[in-house]
Amino acid sequence: MTTNVHTVDALDASAPDASLARAAARSLELDAEIAIDPSRFRVLTGDRPTGNLHLGHYFGTLATRVALQRRGVETIIVIADYQVIADRDGVGSLEERVRSLVTDYLAVGLDPDRTTIFAHSAVPELHQLLLPFLALVTDAELRRNPTVKAEHEGTGGRPMSGLLLTYPVHQAADILFCKANVVPVGKDQLPHLEQARVISRRFDQRYGRGDRDRPVFPTPDALLSPAVNLLGVDGQKMSKSRENAIDLAMDAETTARRLRAAVTDGDRVITYDPARRPAVANLVLLGALASGREPHDVAADIGSGGARALKQFVSDAVNEHLAPIRARRAEIERHPDLVHDVLAAGNRRARVIAAATLDEVRAAMWMRYD
Ligand code: TRP
Repeated sequence: MTTNVHTVDALDASAPDASLARAAARSLELDAEIAIDPSRFRVLTGDRPTGNLHLGHYFGTLATRVALQRRGVETIIVIADYQVIADRDGVGSLEERVRSLVTDYLAVGLDPDRTTIFAHSAVPELHQLLLPFLALVTDAELRRNPTVKAEHEGTGGRPMSGLLLTYPVHQAADILFCKANVVPVGKDQLPHLEQARVISRRFDQRYGRGDRDRPVFPTPDALLSPAVNLLGVDGQKMSKSRENAIDLAMDAETTARRLRAAVTDGDRVITYDPARRPAVANLVLLGALASGREPHDVAADIGSGGARALKQFVSDAVNEHLAPIRARRAEIERHPDLVHDVLAAGNRRARVIAAATLDEVRAAMWMRYD
């Protein structure tokens, strides 16, 4: 099985950015290199524990992670709990959200024996990288970061917090603490990855003692996740607050109800036309992903059956696809110790890795006093 990656010609015109094209091209190369020798790579990726994982996550990033794990690439996943407070005060019980996220991970097939899952706040040695890294970036650089800007605009006039401004730097610490060389991300995260690449290079220029063959940090590459642009059932961006997403943890009845209420259009015959009929195309795409078929075939099969038949098909396909995942999820929930133990072991392992890196960093900076 190969990892799905963006192909260069699949890039959309909304981001005609040279760095995106470069990252897409490099992603394809990486995919081939991983197939040849997975042992050369260490993957780091992460999520903010803001809510339950939904189908957008599932068909985008989660599928990539499970595929990488299957190919034998060592993977580390950071649950970025500190990132949650970068643009808001808090989200209630983070502990509950983190546990639910780990439950989702295990339910979709991430295997804790092969994939390390840890919470950002549980690894103090990682955070200590932030100080030397902050010395390697300028405030102008941080203020230009388009993803930080977009997040800030989304807060509706809230002043920019220092944590949000420095978000790319602690994300660089997330990536570099374990010397990851591959980071599977969507294109919104590319500016952060670029910042991590810059920091890794600058660290070596400043402290690397000139040994080009043995840099302290590798320069990490993005592995672009497939551009699965699933919208919510109302045709808007999928989001928890809009109640328009299908969560992995949802039951079949709620899933069916939500899909029955999905927005469609007045055209009786179902076609797959994302540009002209985004809401209908989104349902067709979801049905196609869940049933492992091509969107055009799904649309052609339903044809004059109309929106009702389409919704029925999508609902059945999604529920069938998710049934084993939901069953596993329920089983895991019956064993709360399991999630606790997975996280505790992941945290321990991440701390060992972070402590070793911090040691090297201090040595490079002539800051070792023991
Ligand atoms: N910022 C990422 C998001 O919002 C989550 C994340 C945190 C991450 N640390 C990371 C992703 C390191 C990749 C690498 O989705």
